[in-house]
Formats: sequence, structure tokens, C-alpha cells
Amino acid sequence: MSISYFAECTVLITGASAGIGREFARQLAPVVSTMVLVARRSDRLETLELELKVINPDLEIFPRPLDLRDHSEVERFCDWLDESGLAIDLLINNAGLGDYGPFADSEWERIDAMLQVNIHALTYLTYRILPKMQRAGCGAILNVSSTASFLPVPNMATYAATKAYVTSLSEALRAELRNSNLTVTVLCPGPVPTEFADVANRAGPGGTLKVAPEIFTVPVQDVVRDALNAVARDRARVVPGALVNLAMTTVAFLPMFIKRLLYQLKLGQPARPPEGHTPDYQAMGTR
Ligand SMILES: NC(=O)c1ccc[n+]([C@@H]2O[C@H](COP(=O)([O-])OP(=O)(O)OC[C@H]3O[C@@H](n4cnc5c(N)ncnc54)[C@H](OP(=O)(O)O)[C@@H]3O)[C@@H](O)[C@H]2O)c1
Repeated sequence: MSISYFAECTVLITGASAGIGREFARQLAPVVSTMVLVARRSDRLETLELELKVINPDLEIFPRPLDLRDHSEVERFCDWLDESGLAIDLLINNAGLGDYGPFADSEWERIDAMLQVNIHALTYLTYRILPKMQRAGCGAILNVSSTASFLPVPNMATYAATKAYVTSLSEALRAELRNSNLTVTVLCPGPVPTEFADVANRAGPGGTLKVAPEIFTVPVQDVVRDALNAVARDRARVVPGALVNLAMTTVAFLPMFIKRLLYQLKLGQPARPPEGHTPDYQAMGTR
């Protein structure tokens, strides 16, 4: 595939201030005509704008600092998009975050942020932009999910569940749109060296999201190149990296009871009540 497939497109990228989103902006900059870049850190967006202008002086760039956790901000952004008259050809729903550690010890703010950014904002942006693509008669949506969407992930329970939603939504939309000129692709990366792990790790003592073994790590440039190739070829799903792909294909064929056994081996036996303790089931029922 040549990147020229995206020539003269208008692209919206969420989470453009870092990692995978910023790399999408860098790889698309030479060919697209217009970019709308969304993230909270406005200084990062401004720096990126300067960098992209060097790559392509004709590129029209709209940096939009925005907190995707806040529905009213997202709504106002969509209203601005409507008023601007910009017709998005390629929507890259990339912004997302994780949280590493046991669910019971989570802070609600972090759980809520994942639900708002990974699920709510992605769904709402799609809801507002898809009808305009339908009226225009063409368009592409690229949703950034994760290999975590293929199986429950202890210590990243909410994150994996949000990504299962993203993969499921993407596949269903793709099926709904099969007889149109609109495409939906879901990107499911394994470990990619970005700021993701720093954000996912909790402050204070506790577990740390380990950097995955080098052989499973895929450079951000390769992830984005594979994803853009997949959009251009109208692929449903892309899992970058041959080894990650193989591992995920294997996981897909494992029955759930085998996965549960593997979790037990990895996490150890569940805590047992103290010797002689009999649970009070009646009291439990009244809680
Ligand atoms: N890196 C990995 O190993 C990996 C693996 C699988 C899937 N993914 C997925 O890939 C996507 C990109 O992650 P990444 O690896 O590039 O992580 P990253 O380097 O931490 O970048 C995350 C991006 O999301 C934006 N974001 C987070 N919260 C936001 C909010 N409330 N409002 C607006 N923007 C927000 C951040 O911008 P601001 O902080 O400036 O707002 C940043 O631009 C995510 O959906 C992630 O789940 C990553």
C-alpha cells in the first residue's frame, strides 16, 4: 500500500499528543490536506503542529485541546466540527488509557476516566461523525483497541473490558456498513513502547506494568504503518507484529477453562478464609 491512498483526506485523530496518535499524525502528514488533532496537552499539540508544518507546509491543522472525559466538552467539540464545515474522511479513535492493579484497590476516578475516554467519547464521536460520512457516501473509521480485548486481563480488568467493547463495536459497525463505501477497522496492538505504561501505573507501592519482553514489543512506527495499510485494504482487524499475532490466534482457540487455569498459575491460589471460619451466607444475602 502506498500512503497516497489517504491523499487530500481530512483526518481527525484523538490522542494526538503522544505515542500511537502522534505517530498517525506524522505518517499521514505528507499526504493529507487537513488534520484535526485532539488531546488535553495543548503545548504538545502546538509542538506537533510546528513539526507537521515542516513535513507539509500546505497541511491545514486544527489543534483542539479537549478533555475526552468530559461529555459536554466532547459535545461542544462536535458542534464546532459541524459549524466548521469540515468533512472528516478518516476518524481515528485512538485516545485511551489503562490502569494497572487489582480492581478492588482502584480509584474510581481512574475507572471512570477509562470508561469515559475508551468507551463513551469513542462511541459519541462515532455517533456524531458517521452520519455525515454516510451523507458524503464515503469514509473510514479506525478504532484503536488492544490485544487485551481478546481475553479478560486480571489487574487490568476494566481496561480489558473497555477494549472488548471497542473491538465488538467496531466489528458490528463494520457488518452494518458492509453495503456502503464506509469502512471500519479495529487496531489491536500488543505492547508498544509509548507513555501508556507510565499512565497505567498507579502512584505509590503496588504492582508495576512491566515492559513486555522485547520480542513481543512492536515499534510505534510499525504499528501505525500496519494500521494504515489495513484501512487502505479495508481489513476488519489488524494485530501488528507476527509474534503477537500468533500468540493472539492461539489465545483465541483456548477455551475459557484453560485460560482460568493459566490465571491461577500466574496469580496463585485465591485467598482462603481462615481455618475454622464458616461463611455466614444468610448475612451475605441481606447485604
Ligand atoms: N502502548 C501500548 O502498549 C498499547 C497497547 C494496546 C493498545 N493501546 C492503545 O493505543 C491507544 C494510544 O495509546 P498510546 O500507547 O499511544 O498511549 P499514550 O502515549 O499514553 O497516549 C495516549 C493519548 O491519549 C490521550 N488522552 C488520554 N486521556 C485523554 C483525555 N481525557 N482527553 C483527551 N485525550 C486523552 C493522551 O493525550 P493527553 O494526555 O494530552 O490528553 C495521549 O495523546 C490507546 O487507546 C491505548 O489503549 C496501547
